[in-house]
This record gives sequence, C-alpha cells and structure tokens, in this order.
Amino acid sequence: MKRLRFAGLLLCAAASAHAQAPAARPFAEEIAKQEEIYRSRGAAVPDGYVIDRSLLSYTQALAPDFDRALGLLRPGDRWLDIGAGRGQAILDYYTPRFDMLHFEGRDERGSKAQAVGMSIEDRRTPAWHEKAASLPPDKIRYLASRRLRDYSRDELGKFRLVTDVVGGFSYTTDLSLFMGRVLDLLDVNGDFFTVLADVSSQESANRPFYEGSPFLTAIARADGSEVKVCAWLKSISCVQVTCEFKPKWRPPIEAFHVRKVCNEVSVPVLAPVHFEAGTPPERGFKLAN
Ligand SMILES: C[S@@+](CC[C@H](N)C(=O)[O-])C[C@H]1O[C@@H](n2cnc3c(N)ncnc32)[C@H](O)[C@@H]1O
Repeated sequence: MKRLRFAGLLLCAAASAHAQAPAARPFAEEIAKQEEIYRSRGAAVPDGYVIDRSLLSYTQALAPDFDRALGLLRPGDRWLDIGAGRGQAILDYYTPRFDMLHFEGRDERGSKAQAVGMSIEDRRTPAWHEKAASLPPDKIRYLASRRLRDYSRDELGKFRLVTDVVGGFSYTTDLSLFMGRVLDLLDVNGDFFTVLADVSSQESANRPFYEGSPFLTAIARADGSEVKVCAWLKSISCVQVTCEFKPKWRPPIEAFHVRKVCNEVSVPVLAPVHFEAGTPPERGFKLAN
C-alpha cells in the first residue's frame, strides 16, 4: 500500500472508493483496505492520510485563481469542499484573518458564502462544532457517511465554487462519474479547483515519482497510449480548463481549474482498470471509445 504525503518546497502543504459499482468489484480486496483508511482513528491513521490542511495549504496547492474566487463569494453563494477531512479550510475562511488578507470584495462579502464540507468519515473536531454554533444556522454544514456519488442534486443544491484537495478526485474509483457529479452541482460560470499528485502533466515530460511505480492516476486509450488527465478534462464539453504543473512539490502535483460555461456537459467515460489502496490510491482508467 502506497503511503504518500505531498509537500511543497518551502512549506509543508499538509497532501473513493465505492463498493457497489460493478466496475469496482474486481478491486474488492483493495477497496476493503481503502475503507480501513477511512475508518482509521488516532494512532491508526496512516501518516500520509492528511486530514487537517489549512486554507493556506489549499491556496498553495490549487491554481492561483482559487484564492480570488473564494474571496469574491457573496453571502448568497455556496462553496462545496469535497473530501474536507476536518474541515480546517472552511474554518479558516470564517475568520477575521481571512478578511484582513482579502481586501478585494470585502464589503460585498458581508457574512460570507455558505460552506459545505463533505467527507466519507466524520472527522469533525470540537473546533468545528464551536464555529458552527457561533455562526447563523446552516452557514457551515458537514456531510458525512456518504460519497459524492451517493447524493442527489436536490439534496445538495447548486454551488458557485467546488474544491477538492486530495479528496474524492484523488480517491474515487470512478473518475468520470465523479466529474459528472461535480459539474452537475456547479452553477454555470462556477469553478472547480482540484489537484492530483504524481500525474503525467500536460506541460512537462515528467516521469512517475516513485521508481518502478506507475503514476498515481493514469488514463490510457484502448490501444494503451497515454491520455493526460488535463487533456481528458479538456475533452469534456461545456468547460474551460487550465492545468498548472508544480514540479517543485514532492511528489510533483498538477493543479486543475475547471470552469463550467454551459449546461450541456458530457464527460468522456473512463472505465476503472486498476486500483491499489493508499493515501491516495494508485488508479488506472481506460478511455471508452
Ligand atoms: C486525505 S483526506 C483530505 C482532507 C482535506 N481535503 C485536507 O486536505 O486536509 C481525504 C478526504 O476525502 C474524502 N473522500 C474520499 N473520497 C471521497 C468521495 N468520493 N466523496 C466524498 N469524500 C471523499 C475522505 O473521506 C476524506 O475526508
């Protein structure tokens, strides 16, 4: 099992499986190991399973536009953080410090957007409960016990901003289903910011970080030729995508910014062909014709 923690050069940037889908059954053993990671508590939490990244860590890992997009959210807007862990990034957003550091849009920001954190397992701390009690009802919500795919659009509503920092986008066994759900939840002109560690980047001829191992997330065509994750995202209809490779991170990461520009979204289907439990897991997908 791969245990991975990704770190920035200067600052440690503290770095889903599903059992029901037929395609996932061949990986039953690995998925069972993955479930143990989600269930782990206290000393049993693997080193590489980081659940407490700050908002600053999010800002460092994600595309530069994320910080501005978050600062420009209005009280009527909604932010979904998929794979929120303890929800530290959301807690950091609701601090006076955030406003001190984000002068642009300060007046319009008012009481801030509603933030929803989603995690398979409930990692809330007393700090979360205290913050929630100090804010207007439902200003921050934490959804646990289910994966993104298990919620309907009606249950979740729509969002102006969706983030995923080493959450479902890095952990899901079904990347195309996951992307379809994210885009379904986004408003038109809404933004999805995410990141993958150890992936074949669009801009560079980087090699897998670990000698003898494949990239952590790999996509191939039926003939075995490589499809970069960035190119696959760009092949989705109704989105604008930018990809930024960050080679100085260990392992290197690629940050993705996906803006939904119209409603006729169609995500090219990826069949899961490889899954090895880890933090995050090693995954292989095949592009359907
Ligand atoms: C390594 S933690 C990252 C937590 C947080 N983003 C951070 O950086 O501290 C992974 C998180 O993703 C969640 N997760 C994994 N797959 C998911 C899925 N399909 N839907 C929702 N949450 C998922 C886990 O439950 C966990 O909260």
